[in-house]
Amino acid sequence: MKKTTIIAMMLLLFTAMASAQKKTIRVATDNLDLVMQVAPNGRLYQVYLGKPLIDAADYDNIKWNVYAASDGSVCTRGHEVYATSGSEEFFEPALAITHADGNMSTYLYYQSHEQRDVEGGKETIIRLADNKYPINVTLHYVAYTKQSVIKAWTEISHVEKQPICLWRYASAMLYMKPNTFYLTSYHSDWAREGQPAEEMLLPGKRVIDTKLGSRAAEMTAPYFQISIGNKATETDGEVMLGTIGWTGNFSFTFEIDNVGALRIIPAINSYASEYSLKAGEVFTTPEFIFTMSDKGIGNASRNMHDWARLYQVNMGTGDRLTLLNNWENTAFDFDQKSLAELMKDAKDLGVDMFLLDDGWFANKYPRKDDHAGLGDWEATRSKLPEGVPGLVRDAKKAGVKFGIWVEPEMVNPKSELFEKHPDWVIMQPNRDTYYYRNQLVLDLSNPKVQDFVFGVIDRIMTENPEIAYFKWDCNSPITNIYSPYLGKNQNHLYIEHVRGVYNVFSRVKAKYPNLPMMLCSGGGARMDYEALKYFTEFWCSDNTDPYERLYMQWSISKFFPVKAMGSHVTNWNKKASVKFRTDVCSSCKLGFDIDLKSLSADEYKFMQEAVANYHRLKPVILDGDQYRLVSPYDTDHCAINYVSADKTQAVVFAYDLHPRFREPQKALKLQGLDPTRKYTVTEINLEPGKVSQAECNGKQYSGDYLMNVGIDVFTADEGASHVFELK
Ligand code: GLA
Repeated sequence: MKKTTIIAMMLLLFTAMASAQKKTIRVATDNLDLVMQVAPNGRLYQVYLGKPLIDAADYDNIKWNVYAASDGSVCTRGHEVYATSGSEEFFEPALAITHADGNMSTYLYYQSHEQRDVEGGKETIIRLADNKYPINVTLHYVAYTKQSVIKAWTEISHVEKQPICLWRYASAMLYMKPNTFYLTSYHSDWAREGQPAEEMLLPGKRVIDTKLGSRAAEMTAPYFQISIGNKATETDGEVMLGTIGWTGNFSFTFEIDNVGALRIIPAINSYASEYSLKAGEVFTTPEFIFTMSDKGIGNASRNMHDWARLYQVNMGTGDRLTLLNNWENTAFDFDQKSLAELMKDAKDLGVDMFLLDDGWFANKYPRKDDHAGLGDWEATRSKLPEGVPGLVRDAKKAGVKFGIWVEPEMVNPKSELFEKHPDWVIMQPNRDTYYYRNQLVLDLSNPKVQDFVFGVIDRIMTENPEIAYFKWDCNSPITNIYSPYLGKNQNHLYIEHVRGVYNVFSRVKAKYPNLPMMLCSGGGARMDYEALKYFTEFWCSDNTDPYERLYMQWSISKFFPVKAMGSHVTNWNKKASVKFRTDVCSSCKLGFDIDLKSLSADEYKFMQEAVANYHRLKPVILDGDQYRLVSPYDTDHCAINYVSADKTQAVVFAYDLHPRFREPQKALKLQGLDPTRKYTVTEINLEPGKVSQAECNGKQYSGDYLMNVGIDVFTADEGASHVFELK
């Protein structure tokens, strides 16, 4: 018999054996399936990822990668669900261990699995173990049925005689069948958050990672988009949106292997973080969250938004407060009297809350600029003689809620805290100190420091139970990487610090479950879904130039619901009209950070009306479905519409950025409406004395017309904006 015939016969025999022993595990949602199978070798392979097959029995027809080796033997190789180091796997592993005896190989065999109902879907728990070393790996997948979102994480433990060293510990690992892949990642910097870069993935590895310590998103963002086959658009194409919930160093590895398949490994960045795991301890990875759609990016985003509001973001289905912040207006220059005036302004404007920013604390080294005071969380007596209670009282008198800024994880060397506890600070013992914004990071790996940071919030709240909101800032990455607490285990610093941060967040949430908080980090360096379990929203960027914001909000809203995206009207780019600035922020979670007294009477009146409109339309904008219609990246315009869940209401935002002279304008086709319903279109947010020039204003159209013919909302006027309410 010829060698090829023998191989073919062996393959047949193998396939027959295999189908007899196949154990299929399906992580299923309405529009996304992840399917795994146990192979005859006892190991677990991914066989499918994508739109569910109509007949689940078809999953058994999918072949593993079965190879006939040159010696005629048959082996199973590749696309192992949680690939390990030292095996026949030649690519980047999800898990790499140096065992207590120095052996660097790990082989994981399927042990058992179970599925149980959880809120919103089903959790699949798969237990794997090595057959030579007492290593246990438990894979978790929560499949959110209606939203087609899957959340995956992993637990690693062992009972070896000595600690083992983990040098790769991914949250999960996913594969996509050979195709052309376009990766969109989001690079960033202060005031330049969420800048997309799309590239075709080539054979080999593309790694996106950070080394910032206790931030997620500066330099690059912890989320990505993969288009499969062709570049996806908002309405077409197959696309994955993925993000990791880790407020620290993360890494995404995208590797195209020898057969052209794409391997995706989301993980904590193991840079400087080889983790020594003791017997009996469980190492739990962060959650990797992803969704896929074959109907374009918009559909995938709406999956994410629904899921986030229902199951992940703190008080995701609750209301959000509009506010007046004082940072861009006063910076550090205020006192009790001037704040009392601003509180009255907030009331008059019609917003829910006044938010006091940086500069209210410290006495020995008062916080009059960013050089001193961080760490000393007592109100500066010279500025605020009646302390925070006096401010809470003034706000109450003015008729608004009161919120306050804190940055409790940080310290200025010029502070009483630093003088008292230099050992609480992450700082090199034997090198010159590098200062990022004149400050240093407290060592949250130290439980005493965790108590202190929790105590900052707890003391303020105990003294002032009526505080309605915190803006929690974090203005420095971890610098001078050395923890006095961890001694010789410096390799644990990056991980234990972030765990310490979560310990504090969760204690705050447990004690103050109804306290809304904004996550801020020198602008938008903290936007991730783990922190959002504790926070109601995040600050997208210190860059509030409305033009820039349209781009950023477009990108960031792919992954996060606008309900969680703070957007404040400021004086960044005064050339843009107050209307344009307000209309840009009204498409997110609206706030103001501007000297209201500097506005003209008309501008102010406009703002008051816009606030009232926003309050009326908040349920549609913040809880409705978002459709990104016209991208500022592709055109000179931008448009978005929101539709209420029952499709009876909608809001359209249309912006003219930098149109060309006499540029012909395309009609704007809306999305997400009920084609059979009639909608009356009314232009709102009009400047005083102005009448709508829009032809559609006051007219009634069917949803079908609005979606297929569209309305004329764009102009050739630079910096014009129009908002329409549809009922
Ligand atoms: C950071 C925040 C700003 C403001 C300042 C205060 O930069 O992003 O919004 O709170 O800190 O120092």
